[in-house]
Amino acid sequence: MLKWLGALTSVVVGCVAVPHEQPHVVKPAKDKSELVAFAQGSSISGIYDRTCAKCHGDRAQGGGGGTRSLNTWAKFDQKNDKPFFDAIKKGVSDMGMEAFGETLSDEQIWGLVVHIRELQYDALRRESGGPKAKDGVYQAQGHRYKITTVIPKGSGLDIPWSIDWLPDGRSLIANRPGTMVVARENQVVGKVNGLSAVWSNGQGGLLDIAVHPKYRENGWIYLSFADQGAKPNTGFTKIVRGKLKWEGQDAQWTQQETIYQAPQSMYSSGGAHFGNRTVFDGKGHIFVCYGERGQGNLSQDLSRTNGKILRLNEDGSVPSDNPFVNQEGAVKAIWSYGHRNPQGLVFGLDGTLWETEQGPRGGDELNKITKAGNYGWPLVSFSINYNDSPLATPWPKAGQKFVQPEMRWLPVIASCGLDVVRGGAFPQWRGDLVAGGLAGQTVRRIRVKDGKYVDQEELLWAMGRVRDVQVHPLTGEIYVVLNGPDMVVKLSRAE
Ligand code: HEC
Repeated sequence: MLKWLGALTSVVVGCVAVPHEQPHVVKPAKDKSELVAFAQGSSISGIYDRTCAKCHGDRAQGGGGGTRSLNTWAKFDQKNDKPFFDAIKKGVSDMGMEAFGETLSDEQIWGLVVHIRELQYDALRRESGGPKAKDGVYQAQGHRYKITTVIPKGSGLDIPWSIDWLPDGRSLIANRPGTMVVARENQVVGKVNGLSAVWSNGQGGLLDIAVHPKYRENGWIYLSFADQGAKPNTGFTKIVRGKLKWEGQDAQWTQQETIYQAPQSMYSSGGAHFGNRTVFDGKGHIFVCYGERGQGNLSQDLSRTNGKILRLNEDGSVPSDNPFVNQEGAVKAIWSYGHRNPQGLVFGLDGTLWETEQGPRGGDELNKITKAGNYGWPLVSFSINYNDSPLATPWPKAGQKFVQPEMRWLPVIASCGLDVVRGGAFPQWRGDLVAGGLAGQTVRRIRVKDGKYVDQEELLWAMGRVRDVQVHPLTGEIYVVLNGPDMVVKLSRAE
C-alpha cells in the first residue's frame, strides 16, 4: 500500500478541535521571566522538551494535559502551519494551554512548529515507510508502475548531476567532477571529450545539461558549471553552450560560447549553493537559476547574481523587457530574486515556470516564478538554523512583500531535479510535476492546477540521493538520477 503522502490527498481542510476528555486546567508558568531567560540561550528542542513535552509528549505523541497525538497525516499537512503557530502564540485557553506569545518570540514559536514537523515526519515515516511494490509493481493514484535500473553502478557515472536526451533517444549524463557520458538505452556507449574544466569543489562542478528543444536544427547544448575564478579558491556558476562533433561513439565538445558569466568580483570561496538548472521558454529565452553561494543577504541585492533566477536570450544577450534593465546598478539579467539554492526548474504545460529550492533545516520550496518576484530569502523562511536555533518566520511582516511558496517541504527533502509529465507512459499524470530530493531520497509527483499546488504523492523512496528527475521526451518514462549509489533508474508503466 502506498500510504506515504498519498494519504494527504484525502485530507480536506482538517483540524477541527473536537471536544474530548475533560481538559486539565493548568496554571500558566509561575514565573514567565524564567521561561524567557531559559529560551534565550536554548535550542528549539530544548524549549520544547522543557515547556511542551509534559503535555504533548517528547515525540509529539500527546497524552499529557488532555492532548492528543500530533502525529497524524491531517496534522502534518501544511494547512496547519499558521493554525499551529497561532495556537502556540495565543494559547488554547479552554484546553488549558497558555499563550506563549508573551514569553517566546515569533521566531522561537515558528521554530517550535518546525520541531513538531520533524517529530511528526519521524513518527509517520516510521509507521508508513515508503512506497511498497507487490510482485515488483507499485500502485499509485492513476497508474501502476515499475522501477528498473537503466544505468547500473560502475558504468562511468561519478556523482551524476543531470540527464538529457538527443532527438535520436541517446542520453547525455553529466557527472559533477566534469565528465559526460553518452548512453543508448541502458548502456553507456561513449563519452564527451574536450569539456571546459570545472571547479569541482563541495557542491560545485559540472551541474546541468540542457539540450536545445530545436537541437536538430541548431545543434546547441547548454551546460552550467562551477567555474574557477581568477583569484585562487574562488568560483561561481557559469553558463555556456556548445556543439558535439561525433567521432564514432564519442563526441568532441566544440564551438563553445559563454552565455552568462558573472564578473570576477562576484566569485567567492566555499563550496555551497551554485544552483543551477537551465530551461527554454520556446520564445527565444532561457531561464537559469543561481544559488546564493551561502551568502543569504546577497539574495536581496539586485547588484549581485547570487540567489537569482536569470532570463536571457538564447545567445546570452539580455532581453530588453527584463524587469530590472532600467534599474541603476542592477544585474540586468535578473528575472526574480530572494532565492537560496534553486536546483529544480521547469515550465509546466500551461507555461507556468516552476522552481524548487532548498531551505536550510526545513522549508524547501515549490515556487511559481513571476517576473520581478521577491521570494524572501533570507528575510522569511519556513526553516530553523542547522544548529536548532530560530531563524525567521515564514510570513512577510508589515511593509514586506514576498511571493510565498505554493508548497513547502517541512522537514526538507533537499529538493533537486524537477520536470513535468507530458503524457506518454503516464497519461493520467499529464501536467503533474515530478520532483526529487537528495537527503529525502525521494521522488514526488506533484499535482498542480491553474498554477496552484493541489497535492503530492511519493513514487520512490530510499534508493539513493535523488539528483535529477527527468521525463524521457520520447517515451514519457520518468528517469531518476541517483547519487550513492551512482546510477540511473526509471519509472515505467506496469500494465
Ligand atoms: C498544559 C498542557 C500544555 C502545554 C504545556 C502545552 N500545550 Fe499545546 N495544547 C495543549 C492542549 C490541551 C491542546 C489542544 C489540542 C489537543 O488536544 O492536543 C494544545 C494544542 C496545541 C497545538 C494545536 C494542535 C492542533 O491540534 O491544532 C499546538 C501546535 C501546540 N499545542 C503546541 C504546543 C507547544 C509548542 C507547546 C510548548 C511551547 C505547548 N503546546 C504547550 C496543551 C498544552
